[in-house]
Amino acid sequence: MISETMQKALLNQLNDEFYSAYLYLAMSAYCAHIDFSGAATWLKRQYDEEQLHATRIYNYLVDQGAHVELKQIVQPPSEFGTILDVFRSSLKHEQTMTGKLNNLSDQALKEKDHATYNLLQWFVNEQVEEEATVSEIISKLKLVKEDGYGLLMIDNELGSRPAPAPVP
Ligand code: FEO
Repeated sequence: MISETMQKALLNQLNDEFYSAYLYLAMSAYCAHIDFSGAATWLKRQYDEEQLHATRIYNYLVDQGAHVELKQIVQPPSEFGTILDVFRSSLKHEQTMTGKLNNLSDQALKEKDHATYNLLQWFVNEQVEEEATVSEIISKLKLVKEDGYGLLMIDNELGSRPAPAPVP
């Protein structure tokens, strides 16, 4: 059984993961609208992945006997600027999420809640990968600047992102 405090904190994180999914879906819609179909696919995959993150927390809360009360999801933006701006927004968002997950891990340690700490370490590691991947995309976009051929190549590459594996 987890503490009331931890339960509330994880419910907030669950909501944040759903917001992340919603944000990436909004980004995907925006990229489709500005004709970056590969980026739209990549961001839709990220939407899928964020829903899996939410499911992972949801499953854990249910397993811990929590009463899962779902909250309202905040409306994401609908305009994101250039394709580079889209991925800069993604990185900024992921950095915020990393900070929240680090704080949650601190709390789990403080409470000697090893089960929750263990769950959170999966997320902390995942954040390292997500930030690195988005940073790499940003670097490539900076490199090609406004070059149409370069942007097309990157967009094609982004479109080949496979679907994420389901939560075990
Ligand atoms: Fe839920 Fe983008 O990590």
